[in-house]
Amino acid sequence: MCGIMGYIGPRQALPILLDGLRRLEYRGYDSAGVAVLADGRIETRKAAGKLAVLESAIADRPIAGRAGIGHTRWATHGHPTEANAHPHGDCTGRCVVIHNGIIENYLPLRERLQAAGHRFRSDTDTEVVAHLIEEALEAIPSGRPDRMEAAVREAVRQTRGAYAIVVMSADDPERIVAVRMISPLIVGLGPDETLLASDIPALLPYTRDVLVIGDGEMAVIEAGRVTLADLDGRPVARRPEHITWDAAMAEKGGYPHFMLKEIYEQPRALHETMMGRLDRDDEVTLDGVALPEDLVRRLDKVWVVACGTAFHAGLVGRWLIEHLARVPVEPDLASELRYRDPLIVGRTLAVAISQSGETADTLAAAREARRRGSRVLAVTNVVGSTLAREADDVLFIRAGPEIAVASTKAYTTMLVALQMLAIHLGLRRGTLASARAAALIGALRHLPLQAQQALERSAEVEVLARRWVGAEHAFFIGRGLDYAVAMEGSLKLKEISYLHSEALAAGELKHGTLALVTPQTPVFALATQRTVYEKTISNIQEVRARGAEVIAVAYDDDAEIAKYAQTVLRIPPTDDLLAPVLAILPLQLFAYHVAALRGHDIDQPRNLAKSVTVE
Ligand code: AGP
Repeated sequence: MCGIMGYIGPRQALPILLDGLRRLEYRGYDSAGVAVLADGRIETRKAAGKLAVLESAIADRPIAGRAGIGHTRWATHGHPTEANAHPHGDCTGRCVVIHNGIIENYLPLRERLQAAGHRFRSDTDTEVVAHLIEEALEAIPSGRPDRMEAAVREAVRQTRGAYAIVVMSADDPERIVAVRMISPLIVGLGPDETLLASDIPALLPYTRDVLVIGDGEMAVIEAGRVTLADLDGRPVARRPEHITWDAAMAEKGGYPHFMLKEIYEQPRALHETMMGRLDRDDEVTLDGVALPEDLVRRLDKVWVVACGTAFHAGLVGRWLIEHLARVPVEPDLASELRYRDPLIVGRTLAVAISQSGETADTLAAAREARRRGSRVLAVTNVVGSTLAREADDVLFIRAGPEIAVASTKAYTTMLVALQMLAIHLGLRRGTLASARAAALIGALRHLPLQAQQALERSAEVEVLARRWVGAEHAFFIGRGLDYAVAMEGSLKLKEISYLHSEALAAGELKHGTLALVTPQTPVFALATQRTVYEKTISNIQEVRARGAEVIAVAYDDDAEIAKYAQTVLRIPPTDDLLAPVLAILPLQLFAYHVAALRGHDIDQPRNLAKSVTVE
């Protein structure tokens, strides 16, 4: 998620832009830039790396002006370089654009514009907007008062995706135009100045009166004034809000912790992970993945290497790829594979999964697989990360920066990425019928809404957390994909509540662990997999017979489960192969609420780091 800042008013814009961008740094970024308007000209400064690099570039040649826009970029298209940093200009340099989000159809637009003679200077999707505006302006009479708005509307009309766009033109120096399409944009209202930001913390030093730009709306920002309209030009009336949060609360979007913010970001993150990749019912297009036909057709084996939560996602990926692409998959902990002289022979693909793309064990395992002849496909969240740079193919999960140490939205977006990879492989290998693929793609598209529905049930999970906040041990059981989710649910609880928990294949209980089950140990039973449902019920009865209290995770339409489990955490019904994306949600919330009740430092749990870059 990029950082956006805009200012227009009586003061110098530059220091306000830089201060605002600094307050958005927590969102994560890899390059930055500003554009300031003065005397009918726009001066732009950009730099790869942190804000300090940009500031030193500006210190040598300061820029004065009372209107400006600034941006910190979290790369999604194009590496984190100065050329790819925002703002981006049109051919004339008289119009500049900054952007947060994804423009799905930028490639055909770019090709059309280049064919029409437009010269591009970056690899980004954003730059397309600047040239679309330039093209639209040519067709609008220069005397028209709303010429800028009309050109921006025409440009936006041609794009598809989720984004916030901010435009400044030297030909219209008293106004900044902004459009919101899903990605957040907020206006800060001052008596004689107006600000714009992608998040509230950047505005608080200047004003606590804000106006949220709604979805599909355009804002025209002038000094001390803002005008809202929809994309057909119809005026929109909205009352400003007065923000009472302090800066720390504001960074978390009003949530008490980044982890809770990121749990609730999952519906939108899932949507962005799939954006532009599931445009048709009969294919999955994976930008950044170009597996050779011969390898796909004659693939002997897939290896999955990862650590922690990423490894748990890989366990789900194993099921998906084996089931849909009918090729053997061996998931292995990266810290194990790298030292066990693995038999990586024949035509193999190593899928290396890592949110940060910097985990030492995963990097080493991926290098070892490559050394032994495997092609390496990275599933990662960070553009420009070591893993992304070293892999042959990269499937970005587009979860946006994940700040909390406990991984939540990265896990569920990894699952969706692996699901899309499995469908992609199955269709290309001819092992997945198109009707089945279409059904899975339809179910995937439905997941963001279903995730939202599942997260709206947090209150009952909080009640459950109060019930078990004093527990010393907990068990998570499941079969098949439910077992993979049990492992992730157990890790979430352990790493932030410090409550000891253990995940078990439900069929393993009677081989020993049943001796530990007592009325004091809650047993979470994942019960979404219809093919083994009866077996799971038997396992629930086993632990109930020993006095344990069972909390089941099951579909809304499961009419049986309540006969066996004292508590049922419900999720919307979906294809069993997609169930892990929803089943983990109540378990993330349970871990969060127990840790919150225990008063722990949820975002920075003891002894843990967000990225384990050393062995
Ligand atoms: C999960 O909540 C933990 N933060 C940890 O297990 C993490 O998943 C693991 O360290 C792997 O990190 P990566 O995805 O950045 O490689």
